[in-house]
Amino acid sequence: MQFRAVKGMNDILPGEVERWQRFESVFRRTVELCGYSEIRTPLLEARDLFVRSTGETTEIVEKQMFELERSGERLALRPEGTPSSARAFINHSVHAREPVTRWYYLGPMFRAEQPQRGRYRQFHQAGCEVYGDAGPIADAEMIDMLYGMLAELGVHDAAVHVHSIGGPESRARYREALLAHLTPRQEQLSDHAKRRLLDNPLRILDSKDPRDKAALEGAPLVLDSLEPDDRAHFERLCAALTALGTPYVIDNKLVRGLDYYTRTLFEFMSSAGQLGAQNAILGGGRYDGMLKSLGGQDLPSIGFAMGVERVLLAMPEGLPPRPPRCFIAPIGARAAETALRLGRDLRGLGVHTDVDGRGGSLKSLLRRADALGAKVCLVLGDAELDKGVVQVKQLALHQTAEVSLSDVASHVQAALAQDEGPR
Ligand code: HAM
Repeated sequence: MQFRAVKGMNDILPGEVERWQRFESVFRRTVELCGYSEIRTPLLEARDLFVRSTGETTEIVEKQMFELERSGERLALRPEGTPSSARAFINHSVHAREPVTRWYYLGPMFRAEQPQRGRYRQFHQAGCEVYGDAGPIADAEMIDMLYGMLAELGVHDAAVHVHSIGGPESRARYREALLAHLTPRQEQLSDHAKRRLLDNPLRILDSKDPRDKAALEGAPLVLDSLEPDDRAHFERLCAALTALGTPYVIDNKLVRGLDYYTRTLFEFMSSAGQLGAQNAILGGGRYDGMLKSLGGQDLPSIGFAMGVERVLLAMPEGLPPRPPRCFIAPIGARAAETALRLGRDLRGLGVHTDVDGRGGSLKSLLRRADALGAKVCLVLGDAELDKGVVQVKQLALHQTAEVSLSDVASHVQAALAQDEGPR
C-alpha cells in the first residue's frame, strides 16, 4: 500500500519551493522595514480560544476545525493566526513593555474545507497584527504596505476593497435596520440565510445565492448606520489612502467571515485566471474588542493575513533565477577527498557548490553539472593532484584553465561573479 498526503494538504517540492522562498523573503523584508517583529506560536491551541475569538457562529468554528482531545483537554489545530497571537500578547503582558506592538507570522493554518484550486485544508498565511494603535492612519499604512508588497511580487491587478462595520453600537443599529428589511422577505431567502437571520444576519450581505441577493435589493447600507466616530474613522482612512495614491473601492457588501471585526475591513481580490473562484488573496481588519474579551487589556488591534498559496497563484509564472553554482567532479578516490575540502572552502566563501562523489566517467559528471545549471565545473583526478592543480571549466564559455589548488577558490569566485546575470 502506498501512503498519500492527507486530503487538501500538499507537499511543496524543490522547483516550486523557490517561489515560496521568494514570497517569504519579500514579505519578511517589507514588514520588517515597517517595524514588525516575528512571533511563532504553537499550531495547537485550546479549542475554546477560537470559539471565543473567531466566533461561535462563524463557518470556521461551526464546521471547519480539526479538533482532538488529549488528557481531557479539547484542542484544535489553528484555523487562523489572530487568536493565537492575541493569546500570546496577553500571556506575556507585552502591553507593559511598549505602547504599540507590531508582530508578524508565517505558517500553516488548518480548515476542513472542501478542497479546490486555491482552497486547501492545510494552507499558509503570512500575517501581521498591530496592538495599541486605534488608527485610522495605522489602517491606511497597512493597506498601502500590502499594495506595494504585491506590486513588488508582480501582482499588479489586486483590487483593494474597503468597508467599515463600525463599533458595537453602529453594528447593533445596523442589525436592526437589516432585520427590518429582511424579516418581511425571509421566505425569499436561502435556507442558509434563514438560519443566519437568527444568529448572524450581517453575514447574509456577502451571500452569493441569487435568492439572497434579490432579497437584499434596496437594503439599508452599513455605512448609513455608522455612529459619528466610526464614520469619521472610515472617512479618515479613505482620505489617507487617496493621499497615498493607493487605489481602493468601497465595498458595501464586505463583512468578512469572522466575528471579531470592528470598524475597518479590507480584502484584496486578484483577477488572475489561475485563482478562479478563490480570488481573495488577503483579508483583514480592525478588531478592537478582542484583547479585552480574552481577558487582556482594552487595547485596539488591527491585522491581516495573506493566503500564501493564493498570492503564488496570482504571481507571474516562472522561478526567480538560481544563484550561480559550482560543480566539483573528482575522478578517483584520492581526488574525492580533495574535492570535499575544496567544496567546504568554496561554501565558506558563499559559493553554492555541489560535490559529486559517486565516481563515474568525466562525460557523465559533466552531463550532471549541466543538468544542475552549474556555471563552473572543477575536474580533478590523480594527474591533477600530482601537479597540485585543478581543471576549471567555465561551461557556458567552453573554456578550461589549469589553476593551482591554492588559487582555485578565489578563481572560481571571480569566474562566477563575472558570469552573474541580473538576479
Ligand atoms: P481570512 O479571511 O479567514 O482571515 O483568511 C485570510 C486569507 O487566507 C484569505 O484571504 C485567503 O487568501 C487565505 N485562506 C483562507 N482560507 C484558505 C484556505 N482554505 N485555503 C487557502 N487559503 C485560504 C483571517 O484568517 C484573519 N486571521 C485575518 C486577520 C488578521 N484579521 C485580522 N488580523
